[in-house]
Amino acid sequence: MSGEVARADGAAPDGGASIRRLADWDADSLRDFAAEYGSPLYVLDLDRVRENYRRLDAAFPQADVFYAAKANTLGRCLATLHDEGAGIECASAGEVARALDAGVPGHRVQYTAVNPPAADLTTVVGLWQDYPELTVTVGAADTLDRLELRGYDGRLCLRVNPGVGAGHHEKVQTGADAKFGVPYDEAADLLAEAADRGFDVVGIHAHAGSGISGEEDLANHRELVSRMGDLARDAPVALEFVDVGGGFGVPYHEDEEPLDLDAVAEATREALGEVDATLQVEPGRYLVADAGVLLTTVNTVKETPDTTVVGLDAGMTTLLRPAMYDAYHAMRNIDAEEREGETVDQTVVGPICESSDAFCSNRPLPAPERDDIVAIGNAGAYGYEMASHYNSRPRPATITLADGAASLARRRETIADITRQEVSE
Ligand SMILES: Cc1ncc(COP(=O)(O)O)c(C=O)c1O
Repeated sequence: MSGEVARADGAAPDGGASIRRLADWDADSLRDFAAEYGSPLYVLDLDRVRENYRRLDAAFPQADVFYAAKANTLGRCLATLHDEGAGIECASAGEVARALDAGVPGHRVQYTAVNPPAADLTTVVGLWQDYPELTVTVGAADTLDRLELRGYDGRLCLRVNPGVGAGHHEKVQTGADAKFGVPYDEAADLLAEAADRGFDVVGIHAHAGSGISGEEDLANHRELVSRMGDLARDAPVALEFVDVGGGFGVPYHEDEEPLDLDAVAEATREALGEVDATLQVEPGRYLVADAGVLLTTVNTVKETPDTTVVGLDAGMTTLLRPAMYDAYHAMRNIDAEEREGETVDQTVVGPICESSDAFCSNRPLPAPERDDIVAIGNAGAYGYEMASHYNSRPRPATITLADGAASLARRRETIADITRQEVSE
C-alpha cells in the first residue's frame, strides 16, 4: 500500500539490492565512525531502511505494512518507517509511547498485548484517550475484561493461535505456542462476544514466528495464512484487516540466498483467498537487519592449543543473539583485512563472565591484532533492543546514516546511567 506520507523529495521508490551483505559496507567509513564515536558502536543506515521498506511494499502492493518495532525502536528508525508509510506494531506500552513520540499518528499504531502487565494496559488506555484511533490486539479472553474495567471500548483486534509456527529457532516460533493468541476454534465466538460487549472489532491477527526462510517455514506460513483466510470468511463481524504477522527472514550467512519476497507475497495472497478485508503484514527484521552493523574493538588476542581466542569490547550484553539463539552473524576484521595476512581459526568472545558470551567458535578470519576494528553484520534487528546491563556494562552508542551523513542518535551510557535508579539510605 502506498505511503501515507509523501516523500518530501518526491523520489521514485527504489528498493535497492535485495540484501546488503557485511562485505558491502565501506571499511574506511566504518573505521572513521569507530574513531569518531567510540566502540562498541551501533550504526543504522536509514537510507537502507527506506530501501528495505520500498522493496517490501512493492512486493505486497495491496497490503498494509506495520513495522514490528521490537526489532529496533530507535526514534529515528520509527520516524523513517512512518515517513515511508508504515504503521507501527508495538509489543508494550513503552513501544506505543515511543511510536507516538516519534510522531506516528494513533491510527497507525497497534499494540499487541502479550500477557499484558496491568501498568501496560493502564498506560495504553490512558494514551487512547488522546489517540482514540489506536488499535489494541488481545490474545486472551480475559484481556477483554481487563480493558473493559479500564473503560476501553476502542478499536480491537483478536490475536489467534493458528496452531502452526515457523522460524529460525524454536525459541522464536510463536504460531503454535499456547502463550500467544486465543485458540483458533474459539476465535469466531470471541469476535462476536467482543462486538456484543461494545468493542470496535476491526481485525484478526496471527504471527507464525521469526526468521521464516526455507520450504518448511514457507509451507507453515502459507498454512497459517490460509487458516486466517478461513477465519476471516467465517467471522461474525465485518473486519477491516487480516494481519498475518511478520517473520520474513534475512540471510545471516555470507553465502545464503535472500528470501524470494515476491514469491512469498504471491503465496500469501493465494493462501489468503478472497476476503473482504485488507491484508496486513508486520515485519521487523526484514526492514532493519541489514541496515545495521555493530562496530567493536579487539581487546585481547590469546593463543591456546585449541584456537586463537579473540576478545572484543562487545559481548552478549551488546548483541545477545549468538548467546541466546546460537545465531550466526558475519564478522569482518576491517583492519586485518587490509594487512592481507594469513587466515586463522578464531573463537571470538566478549568481555562478559559467561561461557555463552561468544560470537563464534573456530571461524576462519584474517589474523587479528589488538585494537583492530571488527564489524558484525545484520545488527540492525534485535541488536540494541536486547542489550542489557549485565556485568554492569553500559550500553553502547548508536549513530544513524541519512543521505550518507552520520550523526549521533543515542549517547553511550556511563556507569552512572546504570546506578541512577539506586536509592541510597
Ligand atoms: C507479533 C509479532 N509480529 C511481528 C514480529 C516481527 O518478527 P520479525 O522481526 O521476524 O519480522 C514479531 C517478532 O517476534 C512478533 O512477535
